[in-house]
Amino acid sequence: MYETKDFSDLLGLEGFSDILLNNHFTLYQGYVTNTNKLVDFMKVKEIGTPEYAELHRRFGWEWNGMRLHELYFENMVKGGSVLTSGSELEKVINYVWGSFENWQKDFVGIGAMRGIGWVVLAYDPIKKMVFNTWINEHNEGNLVGATPLLVMDVFEHAYITDYGIKRADYISAFMKNINWSAVEKRFGF
Ligand SMILES: [Fe+2]
Repeated sequence: MYETKDFSDLLGLEGFSDILLNNHFTLYQGYVTNTNKLVDFMKVKEIGTPEYAELHRRFGWEWNGMRLHELYFENMVKGGSVLTSGSELEKVINYVWGSFENWQKDFVGIGAMRGIGWVVLAYDPIKKMVFNTWINEHNEGNLVGATPLLVMDVFEHAYITDYGIKRADYISAFMKNINWSAVEKRFGF
């Protein structure tokens, strides 16, 4: 069984009301609950039935919804932090985008795209490359085998309570609260 993680330490995060965060935590808990339900249901359904097929089709959506929320909450911290100067991650970002500022423009630009989903800075350990990627909903666009380093939720529920439809203002608040040490830890070196 997957356990729901506690992210209440984030309450009081600048630019995020407690109402929004608590609602978001509740929504995340729903993904954990449904992931656990599916893990159980899939065992008991008869192969070849529509129920069997639909439960399996749904699994990646719920599981990724759970995991992406965990990565998202874990890569935020009150007050934010900065990417370590001279770190391997900074070097690879500079290699791909030319500068941290260019990377940020790209990441924010993807976040401003229409639609609901996630923006992920992902690392491909095989080619040792990093990408800013768009994930539609939770399950379309994930790069197989790549490690999500930084995850930003751009579903409306992530900001509409505090920002209405001003997604850019939410993204700006998110960027100020990034926990770069968590991101660097995922990168691994
Ligand atoms: Fe969300």
